[in-house]
Amino acid sequence: MVSHSLSLDPQVKVSHHNTDSRLSQILAPRPQIHPDNPELKRPNLMSSPSPQVSLREITADTVRSICTLVVAPGQEKFVASNAVSIAQAYFEPKAWFRAIHAGDTPVGFVMLSLDPTIAEYAFWRFMIDAKHQQRGYGMRALELVLAHVRTLPNATAVLVSCVPGEGSPQAFYERAGFRPTGAIDDGEVVLRLDL
Ligand SMILES: CC(C)(COP(=O)(O)OP(=O)(O)OC[C@H]1O[C@@H](n2cnc3c(N)ncnc32)[C@H](O)[C@@H]1OP(=O)(O)O)[C@@H](O)C(=O)NCCC(=O)NCCS
Repeated sequence: MVSHSLSLDPQVKVSHHNTDSRLSQILAPRPQIHPDNPELKRPNLMSSPSPQVSLREITADTVRSICTLVVAPGQEKFVASNAVSIAQAYFEPKAWFRAIHAGDTPVGFVMLSLDPTIAEYAFWRFMIDAKHQQRGYGMRALELVLAHVRTLPNATAVLVSCVPGEGSPQAFYERAGFRPTGAIDDGEVVLRLDL
């Protein structure tokens, strides 16, 4: 994921309105199975209401369950384990992290690097547990994170960097309006979303 020292690159303009409406379209349930994970069957969302996705602080009661969440085999190269991320956050004042819940079930984890002094906001870690992928939880959580960032001082853009290659989450971020800046950071493709 993106380093803390990246500068914001004002190349791509995505209007706030367009991003919101695109996210709303994306959030509408569609009976499609992602080609990179054909074994992950999308449940029939028409027959049962989707649980509400929320970002929650991790507590002494929930930390173990968050640390048991894991990505699918082959996705480990895209994100560190949640235990490592939470340990790193403990030593990094810029870290902001939350568990992602669907209803009351923990399904994922997100961590940002927040530096209001230089208005640099970046995804550092983002994952949905393998059992819970392809249900729209990732995109909804992304929307909630962006809503939070918009409340922060000087928030004009968000950055993320992705390991390229098969199964890369780059297409997921591009669906939400992120665009490559052209920069490569430590081998990772840097993407930016103007807020
Ligand atoms: C990337 C990730 C967070 C997406 O979470 P998710 O809950 O499975 O995503 P959603 O169900 O909300 O998917 C929303 C859309 O993005 C698409 N999508 C999801 N993951 C994708 C990927 N890796 N590549 C391309 N498209 C993807 C879905 O097919 C869906 O499209 P649709 O609306 O046409 O059906 C999850 O796959 C994950 O944890 N991956 C492993 C860790 C990782 O790569 N983290 C990012 C580090 S930068």
